[in-house]
Amino acid sequence: MSEIVIEGKRKLFGELEVQGAKNSVLPVLAATILCERECVIHNCPKISDVDTSLKILKDLGVDCKAEGNTVTVDSSVINDYKISESLMREMRSSVMFLGAILGRTKKAVISSPGGCELGPRPIDLHLSSLKKMGAVITEEHGFINCLAPNGLKGAEIYLSFPSVGATENIILAAATAKGLTIIHNAAKEPEISDLADFLNSAGARIYGGGSDTVYIHGVEHLGGSEHIIIPDRIVAATYMACAAATGGKIKLNSVMPSHIVAILSVFKEADCDIKVSSKSITLTASHKLKRVEKISTAVYPAFPTDAGPLVLSMLCVANGTSVFKENIFENRFRYIDELKRLGAKIKTEGNLALIEGVDKLTGAGCKATDLRGGAALVCAGLSAYGKTTIGEIQHIERGYEDIVGNLSHLGADIKYIKG
Ligand code: EPZ
Repeated sequence: MSEIVIEGKRKLFGELEVQGAKNSVLPVLAATILCERECVIHNCPKISDVDTSLKILKDLGVDCKAEGNTVTVDSSVINDYKISESLMREMRSSVMFLGAILGRTKKAVISSPGGCELGPRPIDLHLSSLKKMGAVITEEHGFINCLAPNGLKGAEIYLSFPSVGATENIILAAATAKGLTIIHNAAKEPEISDLADFLNSAGARIYGGGSDTVYIHGVEHLGGSEHIIIPDRIVAATYMACAAATGGKIKLNSVMPSHIVAILSVFKEADCDIKVSSKSITLTASHKLKRVEKISTAVYPAFPTDAGPLVLSMLCVANGTSVFKENIFENRFRYIDELKRLGAKIKTEGNLALIEGVDKLTGAGCKATDLRGGAALVCAGLSAYGKTTIGEIQHIERGYEDIVGNLSHLGADIKYIKG
């Protein structure tokens, strides 16, 4: 199996362009299913989750291709409505294709997405919402069968939890439904706004995307669009944590500081010097980090769960003990056992983690347990003395475009060893 090998203790210096957001390009690619004219999407990251999404589109009979960071999709003809079990297992977030396939073809069959490394990952909010919009949904033999023979109709939906995926699925299903759909307690992540902007540019009538109440007036047809995906706020936090952990100074371009206010405040409390402009962030960590009293993850605009592993990793070498509370996923701490192999001193109790800063980490062999946990190991390896080897890097490749090349560009001694 392929590995990432790091010789640590090299400070990071330089500038980097941050990739487009994985969690925006995935729902936008799903949204192209609703568009009857060609869509051109720019700033798509070259990551395996995008590759999987393109496989799903091709399985539906959609004509699509990626050229560098631009993806072109022509969904004028769609001749299927199923997502295979293998593709669902490859990417569980394929569930967000459900609303778009149902909205376009009036039926959809996906295999139950099941859980993932982070926990059970239920989709009850997705399914109950689609049922309110007129879908008839049955689950048997591990498959979810959805039918809406008369098409979907608008509904007023209250989400008991502001689920990102459920909000996206409802918006996708409602865009061409008959009548008005209102989502109360909607997720407010920037990726929701980006999805609404994409759909509106293709002719949809969506108001309030990114707020807790979204209004979608269904339209009969959607045309095409040319769209630029927003920057990836979690990838930005990743490179910031790597620079903070190694004591370097980096400038990230094409980022949106307004999307990461809660993250920036954690870096400032850890005693990093942060300078922002409208589209860039400069982080300087000229001395040992300070502990952060308490980080508690929550829905946007609070501190995001996905940035948790990255800041927890950098705090392993801070002065003092930091407290971290994970409130979104049940099983997000699996990577911590791997961090301990590098000498991290972390105690976990349920969804609480106590990170006792140590003088130094020492390189070791370890394995990525999930996407952000894998990135946390890269961060720890960069700050450790000696050699760190990271296995199971397919998890990291799901969401990071050329993380090895980018970190090398910033001065890290990091290699990709093809297995
Ligand atoms: C999205 O996942 C992201 N994935 C996740 O990013 C991110 O961690 C998460 O939002 C939270 O921000 C994509 O956008 C592709 P949720 P999603 O529905 O939509 C519960 C990464 O690292 N829930 O907001 O699955 C669920 O169990 C990934 O890039 C229900 O109970 O997140 C969880 O506890 C990891 N029923 C909580 O809500 C439902 O029907 C948050 O889930 C749906 C969700």
